[in-house]
Parts: sequence; structure tokens; C-alpha cells
Amino acid sequence: MERKVVFVTGASTGIGKAISQYLISKDHIVYGSSRKVSHGDVLDGISMVKLDMADVQSIHSSIEYILSKEGRIDILVNNAGTGLSGAIEDTSPAEVSAYLNSHLVGLISCCQAAIPHMREAGQGKIINISSIAGEFGLPFRGIYSAGKSALNRITESLRMELAPSNISVSMIRPGDFSTNINQSRIVPQKSLSKESYYYAAFKKQYERISSEVSVGEDPAKIGQLVYKIIESKHPKLRYTAGGFVHKLSIFLNTVLPSSVFQKLLSKRYPVK
Ligand SMILES: NC(=O)c1ccc[n+]([C@@H]2O[C@H](COP(=O)([O-])OP(=O)(O)OC[C@H]3O[C@@H](n4cnc5c(N)ncnc54)[C@H](OP(=O)(O)O)[C@@H]3O)[C@@H](O)[C@H]2O)c1
Repeated sequence: MERKVVFVTGASTGIGKAISQYLISKDHIVYGSSRKVSHGDVLDGISMVKLDMADVQSIHSSIEYILSKEGRIDILVNNAGTGLSGAIEDTSPAEVSAYLNSHLVGLISCCQAAIPHMREAGQGKIINISSIAGEFGLPFRGIYSAGKSALNRITESLRMELAPSNISVSMIRPGDFSTNINQSRIVPQKSLSKESYYYAAFKKQYERISSEVSVGEDPAKIGQLVYKIIESKHPKLRYTAGGFVHKLSIFLNTVLPSSVFQKLLSKRYPVK
């Protein structure tokens, strides 16, 4: 098996760490990133670079560092990110901008930094970690859903743009996985205040969202899926990782009338 040079953003915890450790166990050369390390640090067996999705300079510096060590990047896994939970009405324009800037503009910047080197090498793969929440809006997760939906559209467009360069682009849509995301999730200032119209409902929902994640699946499963994509000669555009309910929800969203589907979601995630 040919050893690939893989860069996994956001590898200090959760899904990114699980992907990195699985690929290392399969003898690939893996670099991970975190905002809290220096280039060259080793964290839990993973060679790290310092990358902040809100800082384009740090993205280019990370890619340059890996190129200086390995001479190439075969696979980019865009995983870094966290959740944002709160009513859209309660999320200030500054909070929306900061989130979408780091999560969407940051991801596009990672692709822009890696693509020319993949093209020069004549091959490459980009794997974007999306979410089931990118398939439809959910109450109190509108901004998160918007970021992931946009990521899906970027993935679709980029896949066509990069096909002539022999670079494949895929997305993975995880359901609930047990990671650090409950601790790292961003909550708009106003959602925490009793002044919010949604205060009581949000509190209940937040507990539900967090408990679903804490009993979520083992992120190592996503490591296995990423490995499968790396091994694949013709990776698909979309992969789903998650339990039956998550896969079913994607299917129901395509076949049910939207009024029925929204009723089902509102029953599961009540706003009142
Ligand atoms: N867990 C789930 O159920 C689930 C479901 C669907 C999709 N996802 C997606 O999976 C990805 C990973 O989430 P996770 O559940 O593994 O969460 P996690 O355990 O909190 O890990 C998040 C990782 O991303 C990094 N990160 C977060 N914000 C960043 C930023 N602004 N700039 C640079 N790095 C940043 C963190 O690194 P540092 O804090 O060390 O910098 C950390 O390594 C996210 O894109 C998330 O949306 C997760």
C-alpha cells in the first residue's frame, strides 16, 4: 500500500483525532491541527501544526510546513470546527459573521492553499466533514445548518471544478458522534439570557442536543470511512455516517411533503 500524506484539520479531539489515529494505524503519514499547539508538536501520537480557521495566514503557514517536511499533501480532510446552538433571532450579526468566517471562509481557504500542490502532483483528495444538519434546518441550529449546507454546495461545485485535475472532493455527513463538541459548542450571548424569548425552550433543547451527542457513536467509525475513501479509486460525492434514524431523516426529507417533515422535526425539537 502506498503511504499517503494526509492533513486533518482539527485533530486535537473528537472526530479529527479519531481519523488521524486510525490513519496512523494504517501507516499513512498524518498531520493534524489545533489552535493550541506549535508547528512540529506531537499530540497523542499525531504530528501537529498550529491552525486557526479564522486566520488565513495560519492556514497557509500550516500547508507550507507540511510541504517542507513531506514535499506533498495527498489528502486534505477539512474537519476543524464546532457547533453553534441558539435561536437565529438571538444570534448577533457579529456572532454570525465570526462563525461563518471561521467555518466557511476558513474551509475554502484550506482548499485554496492545498489545491495548487495537489494539481502539481497530478492527484489528490479533499474530504469535507459536513453534518446531517446540513441537509435541513433544525430549530436552534440554523446558523450551524447554514454553514454545513453551504459546505455541501462548495463540495459539489469544487468536485466538478477539480475533476479535470484528478482531485476528488467528497463530503461525509455524520449524525451524532461522542466527541468534545458539547464543550466546544458556541452559544450566542443572548441565548443564555433570561431576556431571550426562547430562554426556557432553548435550555431544554440544549440539554437534548448535548445528551444526543454524549450517547453518540464512536468517532473511530469515521476514521474507518475516511480510510475507505482514501483507498477508493472513485470516491463518491456523499457519504453518511450515523445510526438508522439519521439515515432515515435524510430519506424522509426527500420523500415527505415539507409540511409533514417539519412537523416531525418540531415534535422532536419543540420550540415552545
Ligand atoms: N460530534 C458530532 O456529533 C458531529 C456531527 C456532525 C458533524 N460534526 C463535525 O465534525 C467536526 C469535528 O467536530 P467534533 O465533534 O470532533 O468536535 P470537537 O471534539 O470539539 O473537535 C473540534 C476540533 O476542531 C478544532 N477547531 C474548532 N474550532 C476551530 C477553529 N475555529 N479553528 C481551528 N480549529 C478549530 C478543535 O481544535 P482546537 O480547539 O484544539 O483548536 C478540535 O480539534 C466539526 O466540523 C463538526 O461540525 C460533528
